[in-house]
Amino acid sequence: MSDVLLISGSPARKSRSSLLLEFAANALEAWNVSNETVSILDFPAEDLIQARYESESFTAFKAKVEAARAIIIATPIYKGSFTGGLKALLDILPQNSLRGKTIVPIATAGTQAHLLAIDYSLKPVLSVLGATDLRQGVFVVDTQFHYTDTGFRLDDHLQERFDTSLGRLAVTLKAQVDLAVGAAYAPAVPLHLASSGPPLHCQAPISLISCISCFSYFVRRIYERSG
Ligand SMILES: Cc1cc2nc3c(=O)[nH]c(=O)nc-3n(C[C@H](O)[C@H](O)[C@H](O)COP(=O)(O)O)c2cc1C
Repeated sequence: MSDVLLISGSPARKSRSSLLLEFAANALEAWNVSNETVSILDFPAEDLIQARYESESFTAFKAKVEAARAIIIATPIYKGSFTGGLKALLDILPQNSLRGKTIVPIATAGTQAHLLAIDYSLKPVLSVLGATDLRQGVFVVDTQFHYTDTGFRLDDHLQERFDTSLGRLAVTLKAQVDLAVGAAYAPAVPLHLASSGPPLHCQAPISLISCISCFSYFVRRIYERSG
């Protein structure tokens, strides 16, 4: 079981929101945060549509949700809301499944006009499931998302917002861990250097404590951005 569960709510095989989720998974991986991704496409359509919450196909999913300390949910905006497939998947979760978990939403959309869709459609559903720690995620309009030979790139300010959001999540997860055993969850790559590869002194997985200069730089940067 993993600390972070990433849920893709896109029914598309080639999907921008799923690529953003993949980026998040790689960042967590680089910080030695265990994570796992599930997609609505992993489940039989009949089970989803008929809300067969006791179906075996959902057993592992429910266990992964229960075990996770944080959940990143990515969805395209469809008709001014998150996707129906994602709603069907969230519907099968037991009451209070998200209690105590940190949630980071990610959305992609064709237009800025639906910027608030996460706030008015997804967040209320997550609240009903018991979530209280709902973080600011990232909302990406298709024109801000650029496919490249190696994957994609976002407009600079959005990439920064995304990095910050993921960084804050990593800090939260680290803070929850007893410092004495913190090395087990330590980042392999400090956030401020993650995009350009690990620096020489951080090539191997190390504890945040043992890399205090990177840690303080990282915390300072988050405060600067949020200030
Ligand atoms: C059926 C459908 C409905 C959509 N409805 C909206 C909408 O209401 N508002 C919007 O901004 N974009 C809408 N879009 C555009 C998608 O949200 C956008 O292209 C998104 O990036 C697709 O994400 P994906 O590649 O992860 O599937 C819609 C797309 C489809 C296919």
